[in-house]
Amino acid sequence: MSENKREILFNAFDMNCVVHQSPGLWRHPQDKASTYNTLGYWTHLAKVLEKGKFDGLFLADVLGTYDVYKGTNVTPLGSGAQAPVNDPMMLVSAMAAVTENLGFGVTAGTAYEHPYAFARRLATLDHLTNGRVGWNVVTGYLPSAARNMGQEDQMEHDERYNHADEYLEVVYKLLEGSWEDDAVQNDKATGVYTDPAKVHPIEHEGKYFKVPGIAITEPSTQRTPVIYQAGASKRGTEFAASNAEAIFVNCPTRDLLKEAVSKIRDAAEAAGRGRYDIKVFAMQTIITAETTELAQAKFQDYSSYVDIEGSLALLSGWTGIDMSVYGPDDVIGDDVKS
Ligand SMILES: Cc1cc2nc3c(=O)[nH]c(=O)nc-3n(C[C@H](O)[C@H](O)[C@H](O)COP(=O)(O)O)c2cc1C
Repeated sequence: MSENKREILFNAFDMNCVVHQSPGLWRHPQDKASTYNTLGYWTHLAKVLEKGKFDGLFLADVLGTYDVYKGTNVTPLGSGAQAPVNDPMMLVSAMAAVTENLGFGVTAGTAYEHPYAFARRLATLDHLTNGRVGWNVVTGYLPSAARNMGQEDQMEHDERYNHADEYLEVVYKLLEGSWEDDAVQNDKATGVYTDPAKVHPIEHEGKYFKVPGIAITEPSTQRTPVIYQAGASKRGTEFAASNAEAIFVNCPTRDLLKEAVSKIRDAAEAAGRGRYDIKVFAMQTIITAETTELAQAKFQDYSSYVDIEGSLALLSGWTGIDMSVYGPDDVIGDDVKS
């Protein structure tokens, strides 16, 4: 396909919780987000997305609460802002069972789960979806998650990405390098399921991980699922440029989006890849209706449910800056330390 004729792809964006990005909206009479902990909510969503020709459903995740705002998690709990939050990976089999083409981009962090166990979970989903799963690799941004995993704080920012580099190296070795394509014989006549000579130990020994043995899963449809990333820093973009097939960006203006996309394309080239090898997904909140007026009316209706405190709790967690000490019209400069 020529550079000017690239296909546009659509992912929906959700999270296994009541409030993902729009605190307060769960109170809308037609909102069903508080049934997030039922299978029906997710199978219905998957079917709607497939019918609407969406390419994928992207599922966010965090493993901690947003306790930067006022130094406590009281506000996010009260407003349901990304807490409580359930595991996104568990949803995928059920949604795959009611769809045929929809892809699933599942967020999972590199900071806390060992890559050996995680590679198996990922391969399992790739088998069960027949190759429709993707992994959004995140390094985490909530110190509360680190504390509950027995650490004093998160690793230093760039070191998190060094750690993630090795994490991916282990996952690649397990999923790509351990089992030869024809290792599985599945031969009822000879009684041989796997030819042991075609399964190899990965012998990984690095700074963070030691994995001497073989992958415990047989090769799945994609072997390594589609890799997504959403890092925005220089180091995050470098990491994404080396590993990601798709990058998720959140830019409030077209100019900023253009700048972010150029940086990604430059970074891909610097990493020895083609300029257009990485797909970029830009986050948008789209409100549809039959006419612009009706869409505007819907927007006004939705806006009347905004929970300001819940929103500030999310913003504080994302930025690391306690927004409770600022007024709504205060200008927050670059000099504010998070
Ligand atoms: C659109 C978008 C979605 C993201 N979703 C998640 C997520 O679900 N879980 C998570 O831990 N981080 C998520 N992040 C955060 C990124 O992975 C990353 O930590 C953040 O953008 C900061 O990147 P940096 O450390 O490279 O600056 C998301 C970021 C963006 C832009």
